[in-house]
Amino acid sequence: MERYAGDPEDLLELRQMSTGLQSLGGVRRLISVERARGIRYYTASLSGCTVRVIGVFFDPMGETTELEPQQIIDMAVVPEYRRRGVARAQMGAAVGEVRSSGHDRL
Ligand SMILES: CC(C)(COP(=O)(O)OP(=O)(O)OC[C@H]1O[C@@H](n2cnc3c(N)ncnc32)[C@H](O)[C@@H]1OP(=O)(O)O)[C@@H](O)C(=O)NCCC(=O)NCCS
Repeated sequence: MERYAGDPEDLLELRQMSTGLQSLGGVRRLISVERARGIRYYTASLSGCTVRVIGVFFDPMGETTELEPQQIIDMAVVPEYRRRGVARAQMGAAVGEVRSSGHDRL
């Protein structure tokens, strides 16, 4: 699983699936708010296409509290790759990212 460093526009379709929002403008606004909050996206690509995304909130202050610990905010897998354990694997990888960043709460 790689931390996504590309153009958020390229994730619009997957984020539309994960958020359930109808409006792409709404997805764009949400992405800008999430980035300001320090949310990281992790993706994986096959044949040049991003096939899955998971967003994880990391406490930017480094002072995790009961109210704002690390959180998985949402996830999506493109329809062609569903029901093969992709989401399960990326959830496990996200847990690993949180642990390896020194946090024990998610
Ligand atoms: C939800 C979603 C991420 C699942 O992805 P996936 O790669 O197909 O999931 P997996 O194959 O890893 O399945 C994990 C478990 O969930 C179950 N599952 C997956 N899709 C399911 C569905 N539509 N209904 C019921 N169970 C489902 C699987 O049976 C599996 O459990 P099992 O291993 O005990 O059988 C994918 O369907 C998706 O992107 N949906 C649209 C976006 C969305 O709803 N995101 C979640 C809210 S943020």
